Amino acid sequence: MNKLMTDVHEILLTREEIEDKVQELGKTLAAEYYDKRPLLVCVLKGALIFMADLSRAMNIPLEVDFMAVSSYGVSTKSSGVVRILKDLETSIEGRHVLIVEDIIDTGLTLNYLIENLKFRKPASLKICTLLDKPSRRRVQLQPDYCGFVIPDEFVIGYGLDFSEIYRNLPFIGVLKPEAYQ
Ligand code: PRP
Repeated sequence: MNKLMTDVHEILLTREEIEDKVQELGKTLAAEYYDKRPLLVCVLKGALIFMADLSRAMNIPLEVDFMAVSSYGVSTKSSGVVRILKDLETSIEGRHVLIVEDIIDTGLTLNYLIENLKFRKPASLKICTLLDKPSRRRVQLQPDYCGFVIPDEFVIGYGLDFSEIYRNLPFIGVLKPEAYQ
């Protein structure tokens, strides 16, 4: 048996379902941004695979950049303060910025990131997330573009990890509870 599959309880979203959705999002975004030369900002690491596929589904001129953030110690998840480990390489003043995320959970990470990026005066700032778990939200935050609304399950694959493993699964799966309990 495929060793990566050992801890997968079930497949929530198949490779084909994800592919179809990414193509659909890509078309929508290409129409929205066709003359805007948007800057797609990938929030590492989870969004890397979504970013790679989404950007290729948008057949328009665009640029990409990357940010890496991390929690400020144990209290971060509740305080909502995140530390920027890797910042953007260029100024976003006057640019049309699209944040690309793999999942919005409590919303605290994106909430912080948005406040931070707003200060840099982009012409527009929007969010595209592959997955949304609104049941876990702790701040008011709505993605502008969303692939799938999912239940409160521990999901892995297509960029999402458990202990840094499983990001390379081609589908989104639910992790067996015994794997993390
Ligand atoms: C995940 C995800 C988001 C954040 C969402 O990243 O990529 O950035 O958590 O959670 P929130 O809405 O509760 O803030 P994670 O910290 O797991 O890092 P990773 O992307 O490197 O796996």
